[in-house]
Amino acid sequence: MDYGLKNRISRMIRPSTGRSVMLACDHGYFMGPTRRLENPRTTIAPLVPYSDVVSVTRGVLRASVDPEWDVPILLRVSGGTSILQDDLSNEGITTSMKEAVRLNATAVSISIFVGAPNEKETLLNLGRLVDEGEEYGMPVMAITAVGKELEKRDDRYLSLACRVAAELGARMVKTYYCEGFSRVVDGCPVPVVVAGGPKLDTEADVFRLVRSAIEEGAVGVDMGRNIWQNDHPVAVIKAIDAIVHEGATEKEAMGLFLESKAKTQELASPAAGRPQRSRR
Ligand code: 5RP
Repeated sequence: MDYGLKNRISRMIRPSTGRSVMLACDHGYFMGPTRRLENPRTTIAPLVPYSDVVSVTRGVLRASVDPEWDVPILLRVSGGTSILQDDLSNEGITTSMKEAVRLNATAVSISIFVGAPNEKETLLNLGRLVDEGEEYGMPVMAITAVGKELEKRDDRYLSLACRVAAELGARMVKTYYCEGFSRVVDGCPVPVVVAGGPKLDTEADVFRLVRSAIEEGAVGVDMGRNIWQNDHPVAVIKAIDAIVHEGATEKEAMGLFLESKAKTQELASPAAGRPQRSRR
């Protein structure tokens, strides 16, 4: 692997642990001002110190992420449809590789919709993006999107979708956690991270999902709503960090969450300072 690609991947997946906590904030490109992501800067700023990577579109990157913030960017480059459509699979590439390089992205991400009406186009888009990414030393993450059909998220479907993504050249895959998740990871020869999906009922559910995903082979999470839709997002991400990077159990994560919730006054405003990642 060339230096550029290798270096970028090592900025995404922390070399000391081989794992990553990615903060997903790219929902607006088809969902609009998602609850608690209405003002992306306000949501993102307090979480940057605890994120290995932040996932955004170029619009949010320019408007809501300070260039001085020391955090690698996973740039979402697919889109072209919105939740007003029944079929969300009609996506193209919205941002060129040249633009991704100009924005100093560390990696780019694209959805694929296996089994959906526009399966072929999204898979060919992935292939083209990988061709360009390899040329520029830019890792491509494929996201196994299911659109509105959340019930599709079982191990047979996700194994198929992740494997197809890896075969077409994705350097990383983002998918969902499911029962039998280890089979999904075993069949996918590149690192897998999990999304959180819609907000779960309790923090315990979130920590269980993360712990199970890690135990079953995920290298980390690329998670959004279950962090920033929580009333205590910093406490949640700190607990997730402990599971991902330190092998904390669900119980330990809950202890950390409660401790941090009690102690920490959540930063509500970006005026509070320039976020710096605490460690790498
Ligand atoms: C939006 C995405 C999100 O990045 C992904 O779903 C992770 O976010 P969440 O944990 O909220 O599901 O791909 O299209």
